[in-house]
Amino acid sequence: MCGIVGILGNEPVAGKLVDALKRLEYRGYDSSGVATIEEGQLDRRRAEGKLHNLETRLSNEPLRGRLGIGHTRWATHGAPTETNAHPHMTERVSIVHNGIIENFKQLRRELESEGAELVTDTDTEVIAHLVTREMDAGHDPAIAVLHTLRMLEGAFALAFIFKDHDDLMIAARQGSPLAVGFGDGEMYLGSDAIALAPFTDTITYLEDGDWAVLTRDGVAIRDSEGAAVDRPVQKSVASALMVDKGNHRHFMAKEIHEQPEVVGHTLASYIDFANLKVQMPDMPFDFASLQRISISACGTAYYAGLIAKYWFEKLARLPVEIDVASEFRYRNVPLEAGGLSLFISQSGETADTLAAMRYCREQEQHIASIVNVRESSIARDSDVVLPTLAGPEIGVASTKAFTCQLAVLACIAVSAARARGTMSEETEAEFVTALSEVPRHMSAILREEGLYDSLAHSLAKASDVLYLGRGVNYPVALEGALKLKEISYIHAEGYAAGELKHGPIALIDESVPVVVVAPRDEMFEKMVSNVQEAAARGGRIVFLSDAEESDVGCDVMTSLKIPQIHNFTTPLIYALPMQLIAYHTAVFMGTDVDQPRNLAKSVTVE
Ligand code: AGP
Repeated sequence: MCGIVGILGNEPVAGKLVDALKRLEYRGYDSSGVATIEEGQLDRRRAEGKLHNLETRLSNEPLRGRLGIGHTRWATHGAPTETNAHPHMTERVSIVHNGIIENFKQLRRELESEGAELVTDTDTEVIAHLVTREMDAGHDPAIAVLHTLRMLEGAFALAFIFKDHDDLMIAARQGSPLAVGFGDGEMYLGSDAIALAPFTDTITYLEDGDWAVLTRDGVAIRDSEGAAVDRPVQKSVASALMVDKGNHRHFMAKEIHEQPEVVGHTLASYIDFANLKVQMPDMPFDFASLQRISISACGTAYYAGLIAKYWFEKLARLPVEIDVASEFRYRNVPLEAGGLSLFISQSGETADTLAAMRYCREQEQHIASIVNVRESSIARDSDVVLPTLAGPEIGVASTKAFTCQLAVLACIAVSAARARGTMSEETEAEFVTALSEVPRHMSAILREEGLYDSLAHSLAKASDVLYLGRGVNYPVALEGALKLKEISYIHAEGYAAGELKHGPIALIDESVPVVVVAPRDEMFEKMVSNVQEAAARGGRIVFLSDAEESDVGCDVMTSLKIPQIHNFTTPLIYALPMQLIAYHTAVFMGTDVDQPRNLAKSVTVE
């Protein structure tokens, strides 16, 4: 993820900006920069590589402004060069950005047709020119930013400073976190409270859609309609070592809400958004010559692998052998030497998964792993590591790691399909575009979180809950059931919807909620039949779909509208309602959401 800092100070800020950026190094980056305002004049210093290169640049060419912004960049659009490093600027405004602007290409074409000269490969520079165009049209900085925000599609956090404005900083948040810090006659901005810890522990977090106008006297926060809003001011407990909950009640809630940002960041590691192509690291095998892939993992990570099975087999025509690691390791699976074995693990320390890896190593497999902890045992024992960039996942129930695993697996599936000649360049661009829209759709679902409270009260009274899905969303139903049972302790089972009539339908009566994952894909009509079968037996239907409730043709207890999206990305999007249903039910029931009974975050024993 990129890191953003801003300081409205009473002394030169360049050194303090760099200190704050150092506390964001954990997010990963490949270039950095700062911009300041001195006597109304904008100026900046940027450098490739690590922050000490920026410090060298600043010691040779100091900046003395008392207002400034800083950035550590993880390249998404354009190579990690100094030219592409933030802050980006025009004569009138300088900006730093964390996230993805999906519609930057058409905005860039529009600006260039009007004579604007853009000099970088980034989506961010487009925003600087849009704000400038609004200011050239006579609008003040705040209105110029508001108008610009309405043109942007994607998930982002932004900070702006302006020529001739020595006491003004503007910030905006849409999907990527941004904190405002309160000092003594100073004000601060940071991607998280850790960045602000050297200056203040009094902070407030912007919510999705918020934008904020900061002066040294304070901050005015407004929503996307321009109406003033209040956000709670709190004491942060962040330190270089601790990860705090932000303004969330539980780590699980914070991690659910981090998904637009961390999924976008993970995708950016494997996608060239400018050219709509997947770009995987070099691997010691060729997908074109593989006979099959074996996948092994546990729990939620296993469900990610199950989803990947549908993608690999359908898109790349590549057979997949998959099993939970605790079974896989004892089955003596026959594997042809030189094959690929893929292991998925958030912690990278799960004993069963490690044991399955050892078996595959003995079978002379190429070992690849998708892990969230880069220095973990599973990573160390792999030939290829494909990291998820979810950041620390503290809640025992896995959420952001799961969707980041899916992001990596989706990229692998497209890459394999291209290598095996089963996907055209045009289809790759279509699928990559769909992936680039995932953070925005996730943000849209999270903005509707209030809908899950009343549903939670209904589910909390149940003793059994069924989850139904078909095709690539059958494992999503399995994951939904696991989420509910592991944090609310309510018995829940996921089933392939077509399997209902082969036994599970005997379970259904008026006391049984049936959660249905039903995007309007090629199996939607089949799913509707299954819903009607369940409803006819009294099942209380919770219908999750982009389709209308009226399309179901029977009574439903609750209908949750999901954005209409590309079928390829439905598992990443429908994972969020699965998480929110479980979370709000558990909160209503008063269980220990972050540390549920009997469970450990990493199961390092057999
Ligand atoms: C998921 O919510 C659970 N915490 C659990 O099933 C977990 O996914 C499983 O133990 C695997 O852990 P890992 O991803 O760290 O290997």
